[in-house]
Amino acid sequence: MLYQTKIAGIGKYVPENVVTNDDLSKLMDTNDAWIQERTGIKERRHIKKDDGNSTAIMGVKAAKIALERANVSKDDIDLIIFATLSPDYYFPGCGVQVQEMLDIHTCPAIDVRNQCSGFIYGLSVADQFIKTGMYKNVLLIGSENHSGGLDMSTRGRGVSVIFGDGAGAAVLTRSNHIGEGILSTHLHSQGKHALELALEGPSTMHWVPEIIEDQKSGKVKDIPYYPYMNGQFVFKNAVQRFSEVINEGLQHNGLEISDIDMLIPHQANLRISQFIQKKFKLSDDQVYNNIERYGNTTAASIPIALTEAWEEGKIKSGDKVVLAAFGSGFTWGSAIINW
Ligand SMILES: CC(C)(COP(=O)(O)OP(=O)(O)OC[C@H]1O[C@@H](n2cnc3c(N)ncnc32)[C@H](O)[C@@H]1OP(=O)(O)O)[C@@H](O)C(=O)NCCC(=O)NCCS
Repeated sequence: MLYQTKIAGIGKYVPENVVTNDDLSKLMDTNDAWIQERTGIKERRHIKKDDGNSTAIMGVKAAKIALERANVSKDDIDLIIFATLSPDYYFPGCGVQVQEMLDIHTCPAIDVRNQCSGFIYGLSVADQFIKTGMYKNVLLIGSENHSGGLDMSTRGRGVSVIFGDGAGAAVLTRSNHIGEGILSTHLHSQGKHALELALEGPSTMHWVPEIIEDQKSGKVKDIPYYPYMNGQFVFKNAVQRFSEVINEGLQHNGLEISDIDMLIPHQANLRISQFIQKKFKLSDDQVYNNIERYGNTTAASIPIALTEAWEEGKIKSGDKVVLAAFGSGFTWGSAIINW
């Protein structure tokens, strides 16, 4: 028998430290007008060294809220899925840290490495395990600590002003009601554009001693241990792929654009969300954005936005909720949910 997957509880956590555009302009040659005009971002949250947060710890904070709202005990979690591009350690991944911090019994923990599409990839993985009856309750987390790894000088301004820290989580559980919960997920990737949005080192391609040696000898022009983004190329691909993958999900379920009650796009850039909204002729009530307050939190952006939309009463039982993401890889995906 095939089961359905429903979202039983969601939660979010963001660090307290608010970093405004004016704060950034003290570190690099940028300004509030440029950032708002190009991205819609007004402020973002950054972990402070002494505030006790990390990618895994923020994920745990969001997960505790999701578990409580789902009324699911940690002892009933069968699988942990953790999506991030900024793990606490190179290895092991954050999934096992969460298992330990939440004192969850021995269970599988999967780490998903699909950047801005990480939450939707994770949702799809969870859905497959629940649908087939293998697992009943899955804890899915998206969490990012970007701030410690960004180039906060003028050289890095095209990237650093965009990203913020935070975490979101969902408890996914088995439902016997056909047509309830996740109706479909669609995933894609196109590796030929991998280096258009990437952090190359330190890695097995650029070990630390090599980077230090190259720097000493002046061989490295662009320091490979800060993220690189070909902004305009990413933008063009994002608007195309967002549109395609939303349409793919709708068509798969025999739905029309007018059936969408709430679209939660990955919060990459307000201009991208606005482009999609205009293209699909959606009203302001049908699209949720909070990038102005958090920037792009990558794998955490959809669960944070989903949580806030739900907390604000903008998502109700029976609503058709569409999630869509695009990001580094390139990877992209959508999920259609009957809430
Ligand atoms: C990053 C992005 C906002 C840059 O906007 P843009 O209009 O493409 O800007 P450009 O990179 O062409 O830069 C334009 C100028 O602004 C400057 N600039 C870049 N960042 C700046 C900043 N933070 N503050 C001020 N000026 C800045 C550039 O140096 C350039 O100056 P020049 O014309 O003298 O060379 C935009 O390309 C974008 O949002 N891309 C998609 C990003 C995204 O969604 N990423 C996540 C995917 S999941």
